[in-house]
Amino acid sequence: MTTPDKTYPIHIKRGLLKSLKTLLDVPNETVLITDTNIPNSVLDAVKAAWGAHLVIVLEPGERSKTLAVYEDIVKQMLAAGLSRATTIIAIGGGVIGDLAGFVAATYQRGIPWINIPTSLLAMVDASVGGKTAVNLDKHKNMLGAFHHPEAVIIDPDVLETLPKRHMQNGYAEVIKAALIHDHTLYTMLQEDTGTLEARIIRAIKVKQYYVEADPKDGHLRHMLNFGHTLGHAFETLYTPTYYHGECVAAGMRLMVRGTQLEAPVNAILDQYGLTAMPPMDKKAMIAVIRADKKRRKDTLTVIKLKALGEGELIQMPFESFIKILD
Ligand SMILES: NC(=O)c1ccc[n+]([C@@H]2O[C@H](COP(=O)([O-])OP(=O)(O)OC[C@H]3O[C@@H](n4cnc5c(N)ncnc54)[C@H](O)[C@@H]3O)[C@@H](O)[C@H]2O)c1
Repeated sequence: MTTPDKTYPIHIKRGLLKSLKTLLDVPNETVLITDTNIPNSVLDAVKAAWGAHLVIVLEPGERSKTLAVYEDIVKQMLAAGLSRATTIIAIGGGVIGDLAGFVAATYQRGIPWINIPTSLLAMVDASVGGKTAVNLDKHKNMLGAFHHPEAVIIDPDVLETLPKRHMQNGYAEVIKAALIHDHTLYTMLQEDTGTLEARIIRAIKVKQYYVEADPKDGHLRHMLNFGHTLGHAFETLYTPTYYHGECVAAGMRLMVRGTQLEAPVNAILDQYGLTAMPPMDKKAMIAVIRADKKRRKDTLTVIKLKALGEGELIQMPFESFIKILD
């Protein structure tokens, strides 16, 4: 992964957790941040390779991605006497990555971190791009920073314990990557070929392509938001009943409604179990989209599909965009 700030490796291989020590040397003291759902075997592998001065095990899910939990972690690190020569190791889904990454971005003005994503969503999306954050009340990712890790380490074997619904949730982002930029990945998914590892690698390459082209989230990176403007509106209204990927899947369905691509897009989402359709409260959704921070004056950057595997960015008046909800 190459950005103007930093170049770092994304290692992806089955069984990688068994060879962490040979993969990477961590001379610093380490803080392991994880949640109660992550199997002990994963933590043990990390501890065996790099030790653990401090282990912080959080409650799973979005409720831990708060300023209060952030503050508690920082206080624990201070109490443990940890200096800037400390490396944080995030071991978990996107919540842990975002939170631990934000601690790393800010602890004594920034320390190194290593990201070991353990959910499919975190592997193909959250772990690439250097965005870290916590939520503030109902405002998602309101406080955050760009802070790239020293390395991202992905062992697809850890997904064996990921609950099915979270696996499907991650597939929404894999499908999105295929639809906007990778027809080969789309075919793999549709024909059910290619290993999970190969699919993860391809999906990451799509995200990597856009992040490298637009590291600070200027314009081109918006392509990664296919289905997300509507998806975020669903998410704002229906979290935690519907997961992020389920909301994005619903958003993607709406973006192709009435086009030639409606049938294949719906079919691939169905195939990967992304069938949930949150209720459509048009008025509430419009209010959320209006408040969306991505909106610039009266126009929105909208992502459409020209073909399967090819997205395009369009500037659209807000009033035209919301007609999609009719
Ligand atoms: N930084 C970014 O660019 C970016 C991008 C997308 C999403 N995100 C963030 O990521 C978060 C969502 O990520 P998520 O879906 O991974 O959520 P999550 O971290 O809550 O993980 C989902 C669930 O799976 C469990 N889990 C994770 N790995 C497991 C494993 N191997 N075995 C058993 N259980 C496991 C977790 O404990 C949790 O209950 C959101 O907060 C979102 O804002 C960030």
